[in-house]
Amino acid sequence: MSDVAGWGLAEGDLASDPLSQFEAWFDEARALVRLPEAVALATADREGVPSVRMVLLKGWDERGFVFYTDGTSRKGAELSANPYAALVVYWDPLGRQVRVEGGVVPVSDEESDRYFAGRPRGSQLAARASHQSAELADRAELDAAVAAETAEHEGADVPRPPEWGGFRVVPHLVEFWQHREDRLHDRLCFRRMGSGWAVVRLSP
Ligand SMILES: Cc1cc2nc3c(=O)[nH]c(=O)nc-3n(C[C@H](O)[C@H](O)[C@H](O)COP(=O)(O)O)c2cc1C
Repeated sequence: MSDVAGWGLAEGDLASDPLSQFEAWFDEARALVRLPEAVALATADREGVPSVRMVLLKGWDERGFVFYTDGTSRKGAELSANPYAALVVYWDPLGRQVRVEGGVVPVSDEESDRYFAGRPRGSQLAARASHQSAELADRAELDAAVAAETAEHEGADVPRPPEWGGFRVVPHLVEFWQHREDRLHDRLCFRRMGSGWAVVRLSP
């Protein structure tokens, strides 16, 4: 961590909105991190019991942060029952963590169709064959489902399964954390205030 020791995050360095700040940090992470878009996504069930797993961010703009998944998966079921999520990413070479919290809404069918159409064919067939998070008897069951989908769509486009699509985390909080010496890290947190954002500094 000595390579980043001394780098700080001051209020004056911060962009005026969290999206611009995320983009600035992401650009720097892209040069140094193999999969900078891999984030942990936490959801919770109706009772508030949490679960967490990695997903890939496939887009972000002023509306929020988008990932794609199977809507019938465990996370999909939790999001239907309790449409809130938290994301976290840590970019080790930069000593930076970003946390996002917010409500979750499905992206439009058109947006999901566009993204699905651009995926490799093998991933499209896998999305149809795999009922994500359901129990399998064995590996052969999955392989057989993929073979069946491959045969069914031979020579044709693979349609997006209706349950598979994008979700957008619409942030009400985005925190930028910068490692500093002696655990005196910088934590600047955007909180949504009406149509804008307020920034607060949090103790490390
Ligand atoms: C680096 C990485 C990226 C992943 N990206 C995704 C993704 O974008 N979408 C997805 O559904 N699962 C992704 N997964 C798999 C999930 O972590 C998880 O196994 C799966 O979504 C089922 O989670 P659930 O049972 O909690 O719904 C990824 C796993 C890893 C390790």
